Amino acid sequence: MKKVQMKPDVNNSLLGFGCMRFPTKHDKIDREKTFEMLRYAYEHGVNHFDTAYGYHDGESEIVLGEFLKTIDRSTVTVSTKLPIWLVKEEQDFDRLLEEQMKKLQVDYLDFYLLHALNKERWELAVNNNIFDFFKRIKEKGLVRYVGFSFHDDKETFLKIAKSYNWDMCLLQINYLDFEEQQGKEGYKYMEEHNIPVWVMEPLKGGRLTTIADDIYQVMKDVNPDDSQAKWGFRWVHSLPGVKLILSGMSTLEQVKENCEIFSNIEPLNEKELQVIEKVKEMIKTRVKVKCTFCNYCIPCPNGVNIPRNFRIYNNSYMYNNIPEGKDAYKYHLKEEEKAYNCIECGECLDKCPQHLPIPDLLKEVHQVLG
Ligand SMILES: NC(=O)c1ccc[n+]([C@@H]2O[C@H](COP(=O)([O-])OP(=O)(O)OC[C@H]3O[C@@H](n4cnc5c(N)ncnc54)[C@H](OP(=O)(O)O)[C@@H]3O)[C@@H](O)[C@H]2O)c1
Ligand code: SF4
Ligand code: SF4
Repeated sequence: MKKVQMKPDVNNSLLGFGCMRFPTKHDKIDREKTFEMLRYAYEHGVNHFDTAYGYHDGESEIVLGEFLKTIDRSTVTVSTKLPIWLVKEEQDFDRLLEEQMKKLQVDYLDFYLLHALNKERWELAVNNNIFDFFKRIKEKGLVRYVGFSFHDDKETFLKIAKSYNWDMCLLQINYLDFEEQQGKEGYKYMEEHNIPVWVMEPLKGGRLTTIADDIYQVMKDVNPDDSQAKWGFRWVHSLPGVKLILSGMSTLEQVKENCEIFSNIEPLNEKELQVIEKVKEMIKTRVKVKCTFCNYCIPCPNGVNIPRNFRIYNNSYMYNNIPEGKDAYKYHLKEEEKAYNCIECGECLDKCPQHLPIPDLLKEVHQVLG
């Protein structure tokens, strides 16, 4: 497993386990499968595990905590994220951290992140004396390093980046999205200031592993045996400021493949980078909805399965196969989950980190596939 010296006292695996997409059974985390995946990753050199208060409706921290009890805590680093939107007063920071550490069954956290910052959430944090909180938890030894994850524009990003001596930040970076949100400039700022960048959604939530055959062929012409996942990870690894790549693996096979990829991963060379430029252009002409399948928008009060509708819609274009998309819309969604059930109440809009006009897009989905 490739290792990175992120901090003088943190030597982490370049691949981190994102605990947001564990396998589930009857709407709960499938512990048996999940423990098998976590253990495999750990035994193959993955030594960073990332979770958050809200993942799997709060169950992710508990399950990760149970797993941590089975290993030597000092051999791994753990990060979780503070749900800023639940903070009403300064004491809430301390209360939430305590609750999270209890669920994780740890007496210190290696990294504590402010979750999914945007302009409003940053104001909320500052108004409630976030800097005092950071000082307090570091002095008490509860948290070693602090950072933030981010979903907003580059102006807001730079404002947040400059306002504190951050230990790291977590950004959405993959070859298709590098120009979006904080984009290249945000990444460059962090790199220039020697602040380690962690990457979320390196495969765009899985979308970069299901690209159309004719596009994938452009990659295969250069490296016939490499998977789409390998191309995606290697592209991210080509950015020298990236010190940790989180992947939310959802099956044991993915864990195995990714451990193998990261055992001897190399950045892309010039020729391979040009291939990615071509692939990007080809994909961009086909993707209809820039959804990353983060699931932040669900549950919808009317039962619409927003991300699933978007996935089916996008796949039908990426695979050049609208009839298959129509079949998937008809058979792979329950009736109440289909796009036409949207009543445009707007509740999902503020929850979407990609700022997608969800109700309009759902109308479009139904028009094409319904
Ligand atoms: N702070 C935030 O705002 C925020 C937001 C998003 C994510 N995150 C963190 O960052 C982590 C990483 O993001 P992400 O989960 O979106 O990462 P990602 O690697 O882009 O997406 C994970 C998905 O990619 C697919 N995948 C992974 N490895 C694969 C392989 N070898 N072959 C085929 N498909 C593969 C799977 O999709 P299928 O399940 O469809 O097969 C998997 O669920 C998260 O788990 C979470 O810890 C944080
Ligand atoms: S706007 Fe539509 S999809 Fe969004 S929450 Fe309301 S009913 Fe659900
Ligand atoms: S519509 Fe937005 S919030 Fe919902 S899954 Fe897609 S990106 Fe996430």
